[in-house]
Amino acid sequence: MSADKKLFIKTFGCQMNVYDSERMVTALGQDGYSEVSSPEEADMILLNTCHIREKAAEKIYSDLGRFKPLKAKNPDLKIGVAGCVAQAEGGEIMRRQPMVDMVVGPQSYHRLPDMARSVEQGKKPIETDFPEEDKFEHLPRGPKMKRAPAAFLTVQEGCDKFCAFCVVPYTRGAESSRPVAQIIAEARDLVERGVRDITLLGQNVNAYHGTGENGDQTLPQLIDALAEIEDLHRIRFTTSHPNDMDDALINAHRDQPKLMPYLHLPVQAGSDKVLKAMNRKHTAQSYIEIIDRLRAARPDIALSGDFIVGFPGETDADFEQTLDLVRRVKYAQAYSFKYSTRPGTPAADRKTQVPEDVKSERLKRLQDLLSEQQREFMHSMVGRTLPVLLERPGRLEGQLVGRSEYLHGVHLQVDQQKIGQVVNVKIVAADTNSLKGELA
Ligand code: 5AD
Ligand code: SF4
Repeated sequence: MSADKKLFIKTFGCQMNVYDSERMVTALGQDGYSEVSSPEEADMILLNTCHIREKAAEKIYSDLGRFKPLKAKNPDLKIGVAGCVAQAEGGEIMRRQPMVDMVVGPQSYHRLPDMARSVEQGKKPIETDFPEEDKFEHLPRGPKMKRAPAAFLTVQEGCDKFCAFCVVPYTRGAESSRPVAQIIAEARDLVERGVRDITLLGQNVNAYHGTGENGDQTLPQLIDALAEIEDLHRIRFTTSHPNDMDDALINAHRDQPKLMPYLHLPVQAGSDKVLKAMNRKHTAQSYIEIIDRLRAARPDIALSGDFIVGFPGETDADFEQTLDLVRRVKYAQAYSFKYSTRPGTPAADRKTQVPEDVKSERLKRLQDLLSEQQREFMHSMVGRTLPVLLERPGRLEGQLVGRSEYLHGVHLQVDQQKIGQVVNVKIVAADTNSLKGELA
């Protein structure tokens, strides 16, 4: 193959996959691959897959089927499957879809250039072990290209919580944290390229415990260290488990001005019986106490959450308790899902599955309530002056789109040169998902 090879990468699922895809593009970039935006142009197609939604593997197989004509046209086209479906399915992918040339799990992305080379030699490598060496240490950061003002940075991976519905502990493996110095170096690099708002990523990020100069460091310690980077204005983290929300992290929301007043803290359900069956290891009351402490520390904090309705054994009365909890907490934003089985997880085989129509009805009621709360939150912004990080040109002439501390998109007329700056914006109108404002 020629030196200027073309890579098409399709990313599914969470922000961590977005981050991983960027790193894969950089790693393969050193081997002469450049990214293209359509599969038709590609010498290599990579699917970076997600296993969290229902029938994830089936969807990947049908996606792969769509690439068949491309492979018929160009027999040199190579196809790789990465991400959590790759981890879960392994070699099975090649048995069911022989046109796949390589399978690589999330812990092995640093091996991708070697794997791509062996694919070019006609081999079919599979890497789904959890290797000893640190993939982040071995993944290149790439040329100093300018970046958009907001970026993700993975600091922690994997999860030891084993919620009964969730595949993450199996696909991403045990909890592990990157060393502080490695994260600071990556953050400095991002800031030099123009990044001003960093979201620290991890499946259970508030359990972060990375090696630092004085032994293991916690998430609030890492946040304080990052806050010393002068031109980094905003720090966020996602996603968290309630049991790892300790006092130090709650107080960081009061004491660290660069930590944004926004927290995604999934609760999943409001009934203690269901929470126990989910193996969440917290109660509705202990969750509410955390929220109260957070609000005492940072009264303007906006909350987001994840919910599952129709978990096996959930009764109408249990579901009402989820609604009660939502009314009590008041969310600025939230994600909600019908429970669906994931093979290999403890809840999958339970006999007390909830009928589909009951799940649908509960989901609708929950989403109506959450949408109402979201609308209220958006409208409460009108008339306020908010600091907004200007991110990119808008659709209208002279318009920029920025983001508020609460992650709302904010549209305003402002000098295009100001991208990357934080400006004060008076909010004049609220839509379902975005705000309109003018320079204050
Ligand atoms: N069914 C429905 N929702 C799920 N989630 C994870 N696993 C399942 C499942 N089996 C949801 C949880 C989690 C979010 C990322 O996805 O709410 O917090
Ligand atoms: Fe999955 Fe989150 Fe539970 Fe870990 S804490 S098992 S990632 S739902």
